[in-house]
Amino acid sequence: MENVKVAPSILSADFSMLREQVALVEKAGAHWLHLDVMDGHFVPNITFGPPLIGSIRKHSSLFFDSHLMIEQPEKYIKEFVDAGSDLITVHVETTKHLHRLIQSIKDYGIKAGVALNPATPLETVQYVLEEVDLILVMSVNPGFGGQKFINSSLEKIRTLFAWKKMGGYSYNIQVDGGISDKNAQAVLNAGADILVAGSYIFNSNNIEEAIQKLKYNCAK
Ligand code: DX5
Ligand code: ZN
Repeated sequence: MENVKVAPSILSADFSMLREQVALVEKAGAHWLHLDVMDGHFVPNITFGPPLIGSIRKHSSLFFDSHLMIEQPEKYIKEFVDAGSDLITVHVETTKHLHRLIQSIKDYGIKAGVALNPATPLETVQYVLEEVDLILVMSVNPGFGGQKFINSSLEKIRTLFAWKKMGGYSYNIQVDGGISDKNAQAVLNAGADILVAGSYIFNSNNIEEAIQKLKYNCAK
């Protein structure tokens, strides 16, 4: 599918050669770079923050997609904007004031996304559909790469896509967790348009081919 966007997650990259790995996915035709920020509180893992994002920003022109899996995201939005994020996605489970938070991200002139854990109902984002640029359906429990895709995510994507058509909304539907060439077609058929993939891309022997497979012929 020509209009599908692939967002490699650097969570599974080799951090000792991050600059090279980012250049590799960029050359291979990735559109976005997915940046998994974890704080050891909202999720049981710790990754990186704005300094790392800022340092790779200087060497890449990819669209920087920051996925914040952190508590109190309100406190850190400016830092992630200054580091060079083009889009910031916050988890609906981490804020009491979702509408305000989305607005504050957009006030910086960048895009705003909202993510939902596998057990979080879609209704939690029902009243911000007009405001958001992207909805991220988590198809694994956030925290780690290399987990198995949770099948009930497909129904969630279908519903979100139906809402989008019915309401005439323009949000992207992004899916994150357990994506590979085996399930990408089903995820796209359900209505997703942005595929995040970490281990499938970075653990493959041929990163370029892995990205091409997700982009063009995932069913084969
Ligand atoms: C998980 C992260 C994902 C992760 C996906 O909490 O949000 O972006 O990197 O990894 P894979 O593609 O290996 O499931
Ligand atoms: Zn992610």
